Amino acid sequence: MVTYKLNDGNQLLAIGCGTNTFGKENQEYMGNINNDTSSIESAIDVGYRRFDTAISYRNETVVALGIKRSQIERKDIFITSKLPGKEGYIDSREHVIQGIEQSLNALDTNYIDLYLIHHPWDNLEQILIVWKVFEEYHQNGVLKSIGVSNFNEEQLLYLIENATIVPAVNQIESNPKNPNNEIINFCLEHGIVPEVWGPFHGIEDSHIKTLEEIGEKYQKNWAQVLLRYQLDRNVAIIPKSHNKERQASNLDVFDFCLSYADKIVITELFKN
Ligand SMILES: NC(=O)c1ccc[n+]([C@@H]2O[C@H](COP(=O)([O-])OP(=O)(O)OC[C@H]3O[C@@H](n4cnc5c(N)ncnc54)[C@H](OP(=O)(O)O)[C@@H]3O)[C@@H](O)[C@H]2O)c1
Repeated sequence: MVTYKLNDGNQLLAIGCGTNTFGKENQEYMGNINNDTSSIESAIDVGYRRFDTAISYRNETVVALGIKRSQIERKDIFITSKLPGKEGYIDSREHVIQGIEQSLNALDTNYIDLYLIHHPWDNLEQILIVWKVFEEYHQNGVLKSIGVSNFNEEQLLYLIENATIVPAVNQIESNPKNPNNEIINFCLEHGIVPEVWGPFHGIEDSHIKTLEEIGEKYQKNWAQVLLRYQLDRNVAIIPKSHNKERQASNLDVFDFCLSYADKIVITELFKN
């Protein structure tokens, strides 16, 4: 699979597997944890080696269990997790350390490949305090790469100007309904890999029709065309599906290239 080189020298597989409803009753975000690892196991089976979880998803233990059951070695799996950007996790250095240790314990690992601040908040100086703890854990090798999520230009610039380490990744929403093109371009210009969550959120029938028409030329479905478009602009993606066929199809996007003309048409869909 294609990888992106992060600004710390590490490699990021271009496609990871979203998991925010995995291991939960009724496959609902707020559902109780039921320890069902089937979606993780099918994802590994069809070739995913990178997983995106978070303390807020409450399913770090389920992700870890699914990985363990697959018997794939830890070194061959890339795990992203996230510290909630909220009270109880960010109030002090000790709280941040507790949060990171909570993730390490839940994931049953002594290192995390990529660790993110899940959401920003208003106090930039306090964000920097949290970030400095991330930097320490990066420097001692426990957090291999560190980044942020849902950060805007001002918040990123503050870290770029005041921190020692520039975030490796900014994980943000992007789809035709909420393209976020400006922040994606800002990240690309500053050596931060933009990573898309919710690639299929808010997709309308008219979008699907356009993407299907393009897909026919390449014998690809609309979702594959949409994902290929994001990859073509050097954006990493973490699509999620509970369905094994759709999981496989979302990964099967490396054997075609969108023409310039087709990219122009899709760019129009992303001009919201
Ligand atoms: N950093 C953040 O603040 C943040 C926020 C939200 C999400 N995330 C992360 O990003 C991941 C992805 O986002 P998401 O799960 O919210 O949304 P998503 O990847 O856009 O998926 C939305 C829905 O699309 C369906 N789908 C997937 N592949 C499809 C295909 N090929 N054709 C048709 N439908 C398809 C899935 O249903 P089926 O299961 O039925 O296939 C899924 O429920 C999350 O799981 C999570 O890890 C991060």
